[in-house]
Amino acid sequence: MENILRGDKLILGTCYYPEHWDKALWEDDLKRMLDNGIEVIRIAEFAWSKIELHEGQFNFDFFDDFLKVAEKVGMKVIFCTPTATPPAWLTEKYPEVLNADKNGVLYRHGARRHYNYNSKKYIELTKIIVEKVAEHYGKHPSIIGWQLDNEFNCELGEFYSESDTLRFREFLKEKYQTLDKLNEAWGTMFWNQIYTAWEEIYVPRPTAFGNNNPHQLLDYKRFISDSACRYAKLQSDIVKKYIKDGDFITTNSLFGNLDCCRMNEESLDFFTYDSYPNFGYCLDTYEANKSSLNDRSWSRHLAETRAISKRFGIMEQQSGTTGNHIGMEGPTPRPGQITLWTMQSVAHGADYISYFRWRTCTMGAEMYWHGILDYSGRDNRRLREVNDIHKKFEKLTPVAGSSYKAQIGIVREYDNIWDSELDVWHRRIQWASADAWFRTLQQNHTPFDYCFIDHMTVDELTKYKYLVYPHAVILKKETVEKLEKYVELGGTLLFGCRAGYKDETGKCVMLKLPGLIQNLCKTDIPEYGYVSPDDGEAYADWDGTKLHAAIFNEQLEPLDGGKVEATYKDTYYEGTAALVSNEYGKGKVYYFGGAFSDETVKVFIDKLGIAKPFSEVIELPACCELAVREKEGKQYIFVLNYSKEPVEIDVKKTLTNLYNDQVESGKVILKGYETKVYIYQNM
Ligand code: GAL
Repeated sequence: MENILRGDKLILGTCYYPEHWDKALWEDDLKRMLDNGIEVIRIAEFAWSKIELHEGQFNFDFFDDFLKVAEKVGMKVIFCTPTATPPAWLTEKYPEVLNADKNGVLYRHGARRHYNYNSKKYIELTKIIVEKVAEHYGKHPSIIGWQLDNEFNCELGEFYSESDTLRFREFLKEKYQTLDKLNEAWGTMFWNQIYTAWEEIYVPRPTAFGNNNPHQLLDYKRFISDSACRYAKLQSDIVKKYIKDGDFITTNSLFGNLDCCRMNEESLDFFTYDSYPNFGYCLDTYEANKSSLNDRSWSRHLAETRAISKRFGIMEQQSGTTGNHIGMEGPTPRPGQITLWTMQSVAHGADYISYFRWRTCTMGAEMYWHGILDYSGRDNRRLREVNDIHKKFEKLTPVAGSSYKAQIGIVREYDNIWDSELDVWHRRIQWASADAWFRTLQQNHTPFDYCFIDHMTVDELTKYKYLVYPHAVILKKETVEKLEKYVELGGTLLFGCRAGYKDETGKCVMLKLPGLIQNLCKTDIPEYGYVSPDDGEAYADWDGTKLHAAIFNEQLEPLDGGKVEATYKDTYYEGTAALVSNEYGKGKVYYFGGAFSDETVKVFIDKLGIAKPFSEVIELPACCELAVREKEGKQYIFVLNYSKEPVEIDVKKTLTNLYNDQVESGKVILKGYETKVYIYQNM
């Protein structure tokens, strides 16, 4: 079995496009990759025409020839289904396969990802090409795995074609059965939107002032996700029939309107992510990106990938400069940064790292999107850095198969992610709080996991000592039951404001707030509202500690058993409760009436004892990330210096530096962008 996530070594790969280069380059390219430690390539995701140049005329010679070379030199291959770029003959003959914008204008041939998931014709042609490709190449000895399509929902995460409308109606019929139920769920009595026939329903269309029905929009996002998941499953069911035992099926990256947990569970062996941290240094947005920690904020996406798929790889890891669109232009990675970003991925749990791409393309829309090599293909600094990473990977062999260690989980649900994209009240608190939690935990060296609660069991949740659900706006009964059980069994749970005020349709509930968790939290919320700009800083007093209550304030009133922990200050509701706690079973729950700023998160993690779980082993300055992976009683401590300046760290135990087997303790200097991996055995 040649799986890239076998758990016994870290593996390097790259994305290669045989169709972009003269055949004369192939063998030498693959040998040079192998010489530099790259042992896997991903191919063919945009190469439909190399197999079916004319409808129904299949010719496998091109990739047969290429795979012969791969086999000869011993290169392993991830083969892709080529559906992300339908050929010109296809879209010309069957324009119904095209995606459309909200005005119904079709996206035409000439870029990529211009198809829609719901066209019956595209589904039929997809089945044919995927079947042909998998059947022909599935047993090839050099192939070790398959990638479905490329980046589902990238570029276009919204679909407004006629086929989408037709399928949307089916989706809604399956969900609601009757129009009465749909009208009820969408609240169509408001502004006289009542539907009297399914044919009256469309995917969202342009409306006056963009005031579309919010409940319809929420269902539409669920529908897009459902469409992408079904489309991936259709492909994976076919590929599965032909692949060799042990070969895997994956797809790459995270985009909007997509329940990646479901896609992973239904169709994949594991997920892969495409990591481009240099976006944090785009020329025009560098200053704005600072608040989200620039390249370091990719740790957030890596944490999300890990939540979707415990074992995961990186299918595209940045290795060069960027920029085919305005606003995406960025500097070339500085010496050390390719290593830093690679180790960032490994620190978060990736055991496979594949660079995008081997050679920089000399043509097409991505001419500036640099790979390891430049246009000439000569040896260069970036290739030397990759070679050095390979040497480091050999030293890091024991890290493979280990798991990321976190004792705090941040709860997420796609319904709330999507609702926060649609609902301005929800967005204002959610986005600010999500940033604050990420930034503050990062800068305080407190590793965390995201927990997609509707894809987790109570047992899995109890691995976390602490759970935070910053804004559980839409609250489902099943979620509440899991959270109650989690606390009952001894967990500590923290909610921020606005929990439980919406049901699954996105409508406001008529219960006293916080709705379904009133009993768990033992608080009532008789009054609430945005912090007035007129009021200055909103804060509460928590036993003498100032607790910033940002953006939105709920005035809490404890119920029997609830304990007031903090009360608002300097406002007309001074003295009312801002934070109420409740002992529940063996655990404890906190309900906080505000959104979270960095200061707020800092107070909570200090008071609840969450902060800096490794401070007895190592202390770092804020500009360094700490991540810990664990396996068989050994901990692997990753230290990542994102700053271009050297920094001093304090190694408080005697630790072995895995890169060079040197023992280190006390004050240690890390150069700009330098990374270290220490091994620590504390039992
Ligand atoms: C990814 C995509 C690649 C390439 C790369 C650089 O999103 O999968 O095909 O486009 O970005 O732009």
